[in-house]
Parts: sequence; C-alpha cells; structure tokens
Amino acid sequence: ISKIAVLTSGGDAPGMNACIRAVVRTAIHHGLEVYGIRQGYQGMINNDMEQMQARSVSNILNLGGTILKTARCLDFHKDEGMEKAYQNLKAKGIEGIVVIGGDGTFTGALRFSKKYPDIKVIGVPGTIDNDLYGSTYTLGFDTATNTVIEAIDKIRDTADAHDRLFFIEVMGRDSGAIALRAGISCGAEAILLPEKETAIEELIAGIKAGHYNSKSSSIVIVAEGDKNGGVYNVSEAVKKEVSHYDIKVTILGHLQRGGSPSAFDRVLGSRLGFAAVNALTAGQSQKMVGLQANVVVLTDLEEALNQHEFNLEPDLLQMAEVLSI
Ligand code: F6P
Repeated sequence: ISKIAVLTSGGDAPGMNACIRAVVRTAIHHGLEVYGIRQGYQGMINNDMEQMQARSVSNILNLGGTILKTARCLDFHKDEGMEKAYQNLKAKGIEGIVVIGGDGTFTGALRFSKKYPDIKVIGVPGTIDNDLYGSTYTLGFDTATNTVIEAIDKIRDTADAHDRLFFIEVMGRDSGAIALRAGISCGAEAILLPEKETAIEELIAGIKAGHYNSKSSSIVIVAEGDKNGGVYNVSEAVKKEVSHYDIKVTILGHLQRGGSPSAFDRVLGSRLGFAAVNALTAGQSQKMVGLQANVVVLTDLEEALNQHEFNLEPDLLQMAEVLSI
C-alpha cells in the first residue's frame, strides 16, 4: 500500500482532529502518501481531496469539529454515487481509507469495501453517542459528557437558588450513555434512559420523595432517545402531579458536540488514528479499531454494526438510583 486517504463523516465529535493528525503523521512515518477527503463521502464523490503533509495538521489537536468537515451523504448510499467515489480514488491511486464516524459511516464503508474490495477500509469510532460495539469508548464521548456536566452544574446553581425542578434533555440518539454519566456526575435526582423503562408514576413518586426529604432543587436528565415521548411530554405529565416546584425545561442541543477535546479524547483520537494506519499497512480491511480494557483491538466492521445490544453498565444504573436519594 502506498497511498491512503482519511475522512470524517456523520456528526462531528471532539477528538476527530487529533485522529486526523495521527493518521496523517503515521502515514508519513510509513512513507505513504496521504490524502484528506473533505465533507466525508460527499468529497469522495465530488473528488474534493488534497494531499496532506505533516504541517497540514499542525496545531489542530486542541480544536473541536473537524478540519476536513463532515456531512451525512445520501448519494453515497446509491450505486451511482459509490461508483463515482471509487473512480475518483482509483484515479489518484488510493488503496486504503480511514473513515472516522459512527454507525452510519461504517454502514457506508462496509458496503463500499464489499463492492470494491481492492480499496481497504478501516473505521475509527468517532461519535459522542458511545454506541458502537467493539470499543468501550468512542471518540468525543468524554468531551461531550464533560460539556454536559459543566452546563448542568450551572443549571443546578439557579435551580437551587429558586427551588426549581429542571428537566434537561441531552444528546445520544438511541444511547443513554451521556445521560447516565452526566446524571451520576451531577447528582441528578432521576435519569430517563432509552435502555431502561421508567414509568412517569415512578418518576413522580421519586420527585415527591425528594421534596419530602428536604431537597431544595431537582434535576431530571432525559436522554433524547427516552421512550416517554420527549422532555416536554415528561415535564407536562409531572407538572400535573407536582405543585411544590416551579418546573423548567432545558434542551442542551448542539453545544454538546463542540469544544476543545478533553485529554482523554486527544489521546484516544491519536491512539486510534495511529492504530488505523498500522492496520492498513498490515493489510487489514473491513475492521474497526477500538479500545477494550485499555488495549487497542480490531473488530470486524460487520460485527460492530450487527451487534446492536450495547448495554449500559448495570452497576452504574443501580448506583445512580442508590446515590440520588
Ligand atoms: O450522533 C451524534 C448526534 O449528535 C446525536 O447525539 C444526535 O441525535 C444527532 O447526532 C443529531 O444530528 P444532527 O446534528 O444531524 O441534527
């Protein structure tokens, strides 16, 4: 292999830049030419790619977002789009790509490399959602959780000052990973998660018990994938039964995706980018690099995608309840 490319796709995640930097510099270390593809698969189709040098990735470790930009590209799911992308890579002599993204990105990568097996593909799990089988942590999850914690701590100040009850919606798509860790870290009175059903009656009873036990404020974190119909529905249902608190709703939204990556995400991005290029030079393809028990491991992309059961740690779930009394 002598030429590779790197792209970021799907939702951006803090640490993607650290990973791009590691891919570029590890490739150069191996004597490979490396191309940066802009806007994910869209750039592959539009031939929007440029050779990168060691200095192309200077001073980006600390930046959120992605210098290569990202997109959710529907054209790549069509045969015509894939063929165009393939021809563009062939014309440049690119034989391997590192794709940094989440499950949508990996679905595209796997289909592409099954159709065109002469182009090797390695995936790096880059999503704040922490929802990929094969890696205990995904790139961006730690930073996003810290961002959420910082925001909720601020909300706690005003909630406490006014004796208020806040419902706070956090991101994660179908995963409650951010909600659970943020809930534990901020001492949330309740955490509503897609992975665990909580009846509204149970929630109301908990809030009333908190008031009885002299809590002056309450924070309820609602993961966006929770099955109770969304944060406004939940707050309205509670409002009907709970009169002792003034109730407010905050949706944290996209601020959760931005910001300078944490030390953990800078190291993780560097480590996975380094490992992804080493995997390509070793002839690997259709694999995801991930972290398990603090060791970088390869998982078949097929397995990473098909293994939908991604369970939250049972001890954390139980502990969150015990500690929130
Ligand atoms: O996958 C990352 C994520 O931020 C999810 O948590 C969220 O559901 C989704 O992306 C939002 O996507 P978009 O930015 O395209 O609205």
